[in-house]
Amino acid sequence: MKENFEDMIIEPPEEIVKRAHVKDWEKEIEKGKDIEEYWKKKAKDFKWFKKWDMVLDDSNKPFYKWFVNGKTNITYNAVDRWIKTGKRNKVAIIYTSEKEKERKLTYYELYTEVNKMANALKRLGVKKGDVVCLYLPMCPELVISMLACAKIGAIHTVVFSGLSVGALEERIRETNAKVVITADATFRRGRIIKLKDNVDEAVAKCPSVETIVVVNHANVPVKISELTGREFFYDKLIEGEDSECPPEKMDAEDPLFILYTSGSTGKPKGVLHTVGGYMVGVSSTLKMVFDIHDDDLYFCTADIGWITGHSYIVYGPLLLGTTTIIYEGAPDYPDPAIWWRIIEKYGVTKFYTAPTALRHLRRFGDRHPKKYNLSTLKILGTVGEPIDPETWLWYYKVIGNERCPIMDTWWQTETGMHMISPLPTAPLKPGSVTKPLPGIDADIVNKNGDPVKPGEKGYVVIKKPWPAMMRTIYKDEKRYREYWETIPGYYLATDVGKKDKDSYFWILGRSDDVINISGHRIGTAEVESALISHPDVAEAAVIGKPDPIKGNVIKAFLVLKNGKKLDVNLMEKIKEHVKHEIGPIAVIGEMEQVDKLPKTRSGKVMRRILRAKELGEELGDTSTLED
Ligand code: WT7
Repeated sequence: MKENFEDMIIEPPEEIVKRAHVKDWEKEIEKGKDIEEYWKKKAKDFKWFKKWDMVLDDSNKPFYKWFVNGKTNITYNAVDRWIKTGKRNKVAIIYTSEKEKERKLTYYELYTEVNKMANALKRLGVKKGDVVCLYLPMCPELVISMLACAKIGAIHTVVFSGLSVGALEERIRETNAKVVITADATFRRGRIIKLKDNVDEAVAKCPSVETIVVVNHANVPVKISELTGREFFYDKLIEGEDSECPPEKMDAEDPLFILYTSGSTGKPKGVLHTVGGYMVGVSSTLKMVFDIHDDDLYFCTADIGWITGHSYIVYGPLLLGTTTIIYEGAPDYPDPAIWWRIIEKYGVTKFYTAPTALRHLRRFGDRHPKKYNLSTLKILGTVGEPIDPETWLWYYKVIGNERCPIMDTWWQTETGMHMISPLPTAPLKPGSVTKPLPGIDADIVNKNGDPVKPGEKGYVVIKKPWPAMMRTIYKDEKRYREYWETIPGYYLATDVGKKDKDSYFWILGRSDDVINISGHRIGTAEVESALISHPDVAEAAVIGKPDPIKGNVIKAFLVLKNGKKLDVNLMEKIKEHVKHEIGPIAVIGEMEQVDKLPKTRSGKVMRRILRAKELGEELGDTSTLED
């Protein structure tokens, strides 16, 4: 289907070109061929307490280092430095929600809040290099806590508030987090989701945790045992703290955060990002891709619990001194116009969302966006999964009124920053991510690493290091090496894609056992291990099944124990169990009881066979099948 759109070119609007930081897209890509020179220039936009000695150290591949021996602090660059400028009283954060509650913080207010929290963390004994776990809904305290950690050199690990006890416990345990910051509850579609209860259950089995801090966010009563000195309400904790806190002088290569994501085994990967390169990569890509200016009002609908939120709700926008909206809630509650209303209310100029949300909202019809004034919008963005050209065109016409270029940004938790994406001045093709960004050397290759011909499918690889690249997988160097050693010397993204005759990239999906559900990565093995931990399940295999709204849904094939039958009752119980282990995003769409699973002779489940049978495709090579 996409073939038809390879010849559709949408030229950038004149007013966008006139104002753009990068006027000539192709020329900028050309300039970016010298990656060291290119990123060195970008690094000059920041305050370094000590300048780096070397831009890129590639002497110990694949453990690359950027801005070697440079000293800086990302919070200093995102907050402190603005308070001595005209941005001092500019709104940094607008928090709003499905209840249309509002809270605004100026850069100065953010500065004092971050400092108080940083001092409070220090008082709790948190030191440089310690891990703090943040299990919070979309709220200002999440941003403040992240920045407070970064200010004193603590490593934050944000756990998406939609993940449940099992996932939370696993992450606290692996990182040995000293402090957990959470909230009483969050809400979604009017429903209260208790978070503190999950923390209590998880922490009971995690001896590393010394302190729990609770934000009173939803006014839901929580049990707090303040007497033990182990639990505090956030407000009480920061009360009386000094509103000044000097930034820790961080090495460019010091860890900034760990963020977990799914891979093709049952164990999530702790992706580790560091201070200097991440700061440079994230803010300069945001500036280029969304063409950020001082008068922008930026709204990204992702959750801060994922990389999009880390890079492009928190760090990127604040590093550029922009106003960033934090929205808590669903896209369709109280009605499917909530985002359009927010755009009208604040005069949003740059809007960044996911294809799944657009497909969902489009179903409700054009009348919802048409009711609101969306004329302030200048640039639109999308991320998380391939966008089908029909949805792209709807976004372009109905939301952008054919005036706003769409930035389809391809990247990953591991890449930290946008990698393959147009700039606003690029000619666009609906459904294509266009070309690698300036300073990025990406390609589509076969398994030997040779470029494939135009139109042929291959693997998405990055051929040269980039500043915001992950530095390792936490406590699992071997898994980090696999990214760079499967096709030696190249970073393998485990996505399949192709290039067309104009060298435009088209991303087709994952090439590993990871399912993309509504733009969220879920490893088949993670779901399977949750299924198997249910007492009635003997064996399980899951596959992704294409879905018109969610991209994919999970279908589970189950072998049950002791002659159990998979009736409606048991199905519900198993679904609940998986939700408890992983979280509501791991929705099992379908379940089927089977006598046995197709396996290789070495005992590995062949999900490929299940997928092919389910989708009515050819079985392919079955020579390794057991019987
Ligand atoms: C995977 C990474 C990066 C933030 C959100 C997801 C898929 C991401 C696109 C896009 C097609 C995309 C890939 C990638 N993906 N952006 N524009 N077009 N596919 O981060 O959870 O680390 O997932 O999302 O499959 O590998 P993530």
